[in-house]
Amino acid sequence: MKLEIGNDKKIESQIEKLLKKMTLDEKIAMIHGAGLFQTGAVERLDIPPLKCSDGPMGVRNEFHNERWIPTGNHDDYVTYLPSNSALASTWNRELAYQSGYVLGEEARGRGKDVILAPGINIKRDPLCGRNFEYMSEDPKLTAALAVPFIKGVQENDVAACVKHFACNVQETDRLMVDTVIDDRTLYEIYLPAFKAAVQEGGSYSIMGAYNMINGTHCCENKQLLDFILREEWGYDGTVISDWGAVHKTKQAAEVTMDVEMSVFPDFDNYKFASPLKEAITKGEISESTVDSKVRNILRMMFRLKMIGKQKDARKAGVYNSPAHREAVLRTAEESMVLLKNTENKLPLNRKKIRKIAVIGQNAAKIHSDGGGSAEIKALYEICPLMGIKMYLGGNTEVVYAPGYYVPEKPKTFSHNWQENSLDELENTDIGLAVRREGEESPDVQERAEVFRKEEEEKAAQKEKENQLIHEKNVRLFEEALKIAKEADEVIFIGGLNHDFDSEGMDRGDMKLPYEQDMLIEELLKVRKDSIIALIGGSPVEMPWRDKAETILWSYYAGMETGKAFARILFGDVNPSGKLAETFPARYEDCVTAKNGQSGIRGSISLSEGLYYGYRYFDKERTAPAFCFGHGLSYTKFTYSNLSLKQEKDGNRAVRVSLSVKNTGKLAGAEAVQVYVAPIAPKIERPAKELKAFAKVKLQPGKTGKVTFILKRQDFAYFNSDEHAFTVDAGDYEILVGASCEDIRLRGICTLA
Ligand code: BGC
Repeated sequence: MKLEIGNDKKIESQIEKLLKKMTLDEKIAMIHGAGLFQTGAVERLDIPPLKCSDGPMGVRNEFHNERWIPTGNHDDYVTYLPSNSALASTWNRELAYQSGYVLGEEARGRGKDVILAPGINIKRDPLCGRNFEYMSEDPKLTAALAVPFIKGVQENDVAACVKHFACNVQETDRLMVDTVIDDRTLYEIYLPAFKAAVQEGGSYSIMGAYNMINGTHCCENKQLLDFILREEWGYDGTVISDWGAVHKTKQAAEVTMDVEMSVFPDFDNYKFASPLKEAITKGEISESTVDSKVRNILRMMFRLKMIGKQKDARKAGVYNSPAHREAVLRTAEESMVLLKNTENKLPLNRKKIRKIAVIGQNAAKIHSDGGGSAEIKALYEICPLMGIKMYLGGNTEVVYAPGYYVPEKPKTFSHNWQENSLDELENTDIGLAVRREGEESPDVQERAEVFRKEEEEKAAQKEKENQLIHEKNVRLFEEALKIAKEADEVIFIGGLNHDFDSEGMDRGDMKLPYEQDMLIEELLKVRKDSIIALIGGSPVEMPWRDKAETILWSYYAGMETGKAFARILFGDVNPSGKLAETFPARYEDCVTAKNGQSGIRGSISLSEGLYYGYRYFDKERTAPAFCFGHGLSYTKFTYSNLSLKQEKDGNRAVRVSLSVKNTGKLAGAEAVQVYVAPIAPKIERPAKELKAFAKVKLQPGKTGKVTFILKRQDFAYFNSDEHAFTVDAGDYEILVGASCEDIRLRGICTLA
């Protein structure tokens, strides 16, 4: 499918009229930052600035226009939404729409035009620091949730800015790292969600990523922007650079990259400011390049009702409404994943509990204020400990122990980190290349030396920190084990935090920090029925998982996290979250451990191709700790009556239908998953890939019929020689399951 460019003729003619009236200076003002989060206005023609804000988990606090310092007013607290990783584990399109709607309505309520969300990069490696902001390792699941999310945002006359386009697979060296990738992997894995976001979601804007693809920065990349995005997909929206992602004036100007944003306050020095004007005046770059950028921006402004006759009809938005909090709670509840419940310990019966021990730093921690640009000034955030206490009331004793020591981060942290993150690079040659165009390219040896020293310093610092953690933990472990022995029930709530799940850095390993594994082992020795709950933004190793009877996983689930926890623990809510990414048993089992872990500098080759995540575990026949799609319920579902019917109607290929029955005693919801497995494919293909899913809600004893239509595209692979998706005739197995490993029904269909 290709979109029709500028299909609203009225808008197009108004754009041309405006453009004719504009001077070069006015056009230039519109295409670069005139503030950290806004572009220049053209008051004479009633064209306002474009006001942007981060980010996926809520509308970020206000900054001064020229400084990364929060205004500090008390009017920018907002609804803190579950992270995209949490949202994805709901497998619920309706909740994705609602999350988008809440974010869009809040953004508009705060007077914004563009909300820099959702983040939809594919999770290639569990160690990527920003995985918590992204949805899934699977392109189909990501696309299916990104589309309603974007629609929800834009219903509020606010533009989504889907990010980071594309192949932004790691944080280390993010400004310069080159993602080396072949066409097939690009088209089958890393592009489909972006394609769906612009074509089906209709995203008005898209953010060009920091990294390079095959040697060219994304914001200067002809193949990515001109060819794929504009020509192949027919995109007529606005491309906004990531903050500081433009390096070269001519290259960026001559691709269809429309707005240059950055982290520095010298707005007139932005590449799309004075340098571009100068180049145009000298005749080195044609003014028509600027015209097409302005057209794309004006088109978005008309669509958002920012200009033109529709202005008065623009939605006003609202923030912090009770309805928003309700949507957040529902999403949080559906996002939590019950990984193990072998003794049916959960749900707990509150009436039988006099004293409950809650152990672990994440029980009492607030996460909204961390993570990088996704930080949120939350109206409130209910931590699990508070959620449990609010739920149980005064007749049950809740005893808390932190269990392990979390070192305070040095107070050098400041909101200026965004500027610093690029500025610091100026100490290295990379920074010079970023800021001062035309300088000699960086000396590789020298760069390597700077980085080596940095790594050494970090390692020494870590060593010291570990020593301190170890010393402090002696007493904290003791205290935790003591309260565990004395309580009726024990809940451990640990995991990661935004010192690990963060923009600008990747994790060094997949282990739980702060000696939590040791504590959990000890805890399970004294109380083998301890409930182990973890909060984090990305998978962790759980070496004790065979010993634990009950394991509950939660991503950063927003302002109502604690309430959702309590409602799940005590059975008011039946869990229905499923993993949207593989949880490997050990990091060594991941393809990225052998093939380029997030954290490499310079260049990262995705030579594993399609085989990462569950596609790799399938190929290697290695069992992960918890597979893609896994998640338990307090009830049971049985699957039956699979029927596969050939569809003759154009693009439709096969109608898959089946029955799902809730055979337990509680109402529940099940994410039913359909995988396609080519039998004897002509070229090497993953053993199976997710192609459809639906979340089915069923009362106890009830049966529901579920139907999916698989399209021909669902059987396709990208044929690089022909530069087209190809569907081979032949047999395909259709696998229907409760996870990628728990396949309940199978059937074969033949494609002509
Ligand atoms: C991040 C973007 C963010 C932008 C503005 C960049 O550092 O990569 O995701 O939207 O800053 O804060």
